[in-house]
Amino acid sequence: MRPFALICSYILAGLSLILLLVWVFIVVVYPRVGPPPTFTVEATPQRLERGRYLVENVTQCFACHGELQTSSPGAPLIRERAGGPGVAWTTADGEPSPAPNISPAAIEAWTDGELARAIFLGVDAGGEALRPSMPYPHYGFMCLEDRLSVISYLRSIPPVAGDAPRAPRSYVESLMLRVIPREDPVPACDPELSGADAGLYLTTIAGCSTCHTPSRAGVPDLDRAFAGGTPFVMEGQTLRSTNLTPDIATGIGRWSAEDFVGRFAGHRAPHITAGTGAPPADAAAHGGTLGPMPWSAYAGLRDEDLEAIFLYLGTLPPVRSDHAPASSPRP
Ligand code: HEC
Ligand code: HEC
Repeated sequence: MRPFALICSYILAGLSLILLLVWVFIVVVYPRVGPPPTFTVEATPQRLERGRYLVENVTQCFACHGELQTSSPGAPLIRERAGGPGVAWTTADGEPSPAPNISPAAIEAWTDGELARAIFLGVDAGGEALRPSMPYPHYGFMCLEDRLSVISYLRSIPPVAGDAPRAPRSYVESLMLRVIPREDPVPACDPELSGADAGLYLTTIAGCSTCHTPSRAGVPDLDRAFAGGTPFVMEGQTLRSTNLTPDIATGIGRWSAEDFVGRFAGHRAPHITAGTGAPPADAAAHGGTLGPMPWSAYAGLRDEDLEAIFLYLGTLPPVRSDHAPASSPRP
């Protein structure tokens, strides 16, 4: 063999060995989470109430696992579909991911521990990693009592028929998904949490950044966290998320806490949240709310929680964004 060919074959053999070792490492070591916990969650009235609030108003499980009435401003929930099959929200250039049925009709056979591992760590009952289009990296910040509350509420909703099986994945994709889940100690909930700290907690588990932080090649651009500008297509319109940083010119730097709370409260009319009524009074004023932002569900956020979110957003470095639609205080 000529020396050049010999060197090439050594290099090729070396590369193949490295690839093989990487493959073995990923398959053996990942996903790096333990077996599902063995607890059974007791459904107390407090847990059911807290769970309802977290699921319906904070984390928006039913915006994907279920159906929203996207042709109505504020995208109210279609109550009979809550927890049933749906589609994950996606940016204008993203691939829509089916979101499986998570109502009791579909999760009956899952233990509470298996559910907890799927929702908060992103690993399903069979040990397979979920796509992060299921926002488990955000839910993984939830404290213990909140996790138990989510599970007990989910078990209590009426069963919904049908399914939207998870989108098929290539072998390479499933290998890549395996390395994302991570298991950290679960903190106890702090009943004293308030102000911007409570806002950071809520904003994180709500995943506001999934739509309000721009991405570059699919990776969130953390230097521009919450600067908005991400395009979404819905009902034939392209809408961009707004800049939630305290930038004066393009963000919410001029907003008061009342402006912020009022922006959500504008969607609180019962006929809107029930999904039966006319557009909210201010729909025209902000160019229509036929966007992906599930205003009707967020309108159920309590005033003190919205104030905390506003305080937290106020601690962010202001970032100018020329892509986000102009923000201005609204009545
Ligand atoms: C942004 C959309 C979105 C939201 C919000 C969301 N999910 Fe998901 N969820 C998905 C998608 C998409 C999948 C499938 C992921 C995949 O293809 O690997 C999924 C998968 C799951 C699974 C695994 C089900 C199965 O049969 O494999 C569970 C359980 C689950 N979600 C529970 C929840 C709960 C509880 C919440 C709220 C706390 C929630 N999800 C919020 C999109 C979402
Ligand atoms: C599914 C994507 C999505 C999620 C999740 C989301 N937003 Fe939005 N948001 C948008 C889009 C798109 C707009 C612009 C269109 C509109 O006003 O409806 C918007 C608009 C807003 C506005 C209005 C700003 C203005 O100038 O009128 C505020 C305030 C806001 N979002 C706050 C939040 C907060 C706080 C959260 C988390 C609790 C959140 N958003 C989660 C997509 C999202």
